[in-house]
Amino acid sequence: MIYARIAGTGSYLPGEPVSNDDLVRRGIDTSDEWVMTRTGIRSRHLATAEVGSSDLALIASERAIEAAGCEPDEIDLVIVATSTPDYIFPSTAALLQSKLGIRNGGPAFDVQAVCSGFVYALTVAEKFIRSGSHKRALVVGAEVFSRILDWSDRGTCVLFGDGAGAVVLEASEQPGIVASALHADGSHHPILCVPGGIASGQVIGDPFLRMDGQAVFKFAVKVLGDVAHEVLDMAGAEVASVDWLIPHQANIRIIQSTAKRLGISMDKVITTVERHGNTSAASIPLALDLAVRDGRIQRGHRVVIEGVGGGFTWGAALIDF
Ligand code: ACO
Repeated sequence: MIYARIAGTGSYLPGEPVSNDDLVRRGIDTSDEWVMTRTGIRSRHLATAEVGSSDLALIASERAIEAAGCEPDEIDLVIVATSTPDYIFPSTAALLQSKLGIRNGGPAFDVQAVCSGFVYALTVAEKFIRSGSHKRALVVGAEVFSRILDWSDRGTCVLFGDGAGAVVLEASEQPGIVASALHADGSHHPILCVPGGIASGQVIGDPFLRMDGQAVFKFAVKVLGDVAHEVLDMAGAEVASVDWLIPHQANIRIIQSTAKRLGISMDKVITTVERHGNTSAASIPLALDLAVRDGRIQRGHRVVIEGVGGGFTWGAALIDF
């Protein structure tokens, strides 16, 4: 039996933290008290204008490859989850493959599932590896959401940050990713979207992120609880067997409600939202790498990751680390 196992993790955050008070100093009509109370976010990292998702992905990937103890050219599949690609095309994954010096001709492509993107990308990579067609995948979540924020909309601009996280996933006789589930319901697209595009050199529609915060909140809590139960049921596993839960880091109140619905105490939940904000597809691999490097997540631990985002999309994976 071939399984897909995480061999190494890495992450990268650009620049210095930008606090809620820094945003107030930059002229945003908000307060640390409002943002902390509603979201649990204290600071985030914001990339400078010349830095793209592929640049953040490159550093996170180099760290994951080093942790996995392999060479870039031994990676035969590159998948990047992003909703903020460098270009319309080529894909950020193709750019990343080139920046890493990978010349083995393996496939490289992006996955666009917004904040569920990393769970989607990891699940796709797992299926390539379990089929036997590929041996070692680089799976990355990388975002510069600061580019698609309307900085005059205080209801959204305080919520997001930039960053990247990566894993090397390789074929193994040991599990591995034990179970995963992906879902989408496109009928909910109006509650979280960037409803613009480009035609004839012009932006058509709205190029900024728009959100109905309360509708998103309710939807996220429901589906995150359901999908975590779904992957546990698929594996015949009890909630009590889970060592760590890594939910998408959108809002501490969504995370707390999800943990409560699952019956998992908050000391088993990895949270980075206070210092990272919502980094969309990067949030789960960023939190995973942090907890691996600080020694909380160790080999043999059972981890559930779960994401929800625009589309709407949602998904989860049960991982024996
Ligand atoms: N600072 C100060 N006041 C603000 C701010 C701000 N940054 N933003 C909004 N307000 C004001 C509003 O203008 C409004 O004022 P009013 O009553 O005078 O009109 C008041 O605060 C309440 O606004 P609401 O939008 O009703 O605030 P709510 O309590 O719903 O909180 C929030 C908004 C934090 C966005 C909440 O709905 C939420 O957490 N939703 C989840 C959304 C989320 O996490 N999205 C992330 C992307 S989706 C994902 O990753 C899954």
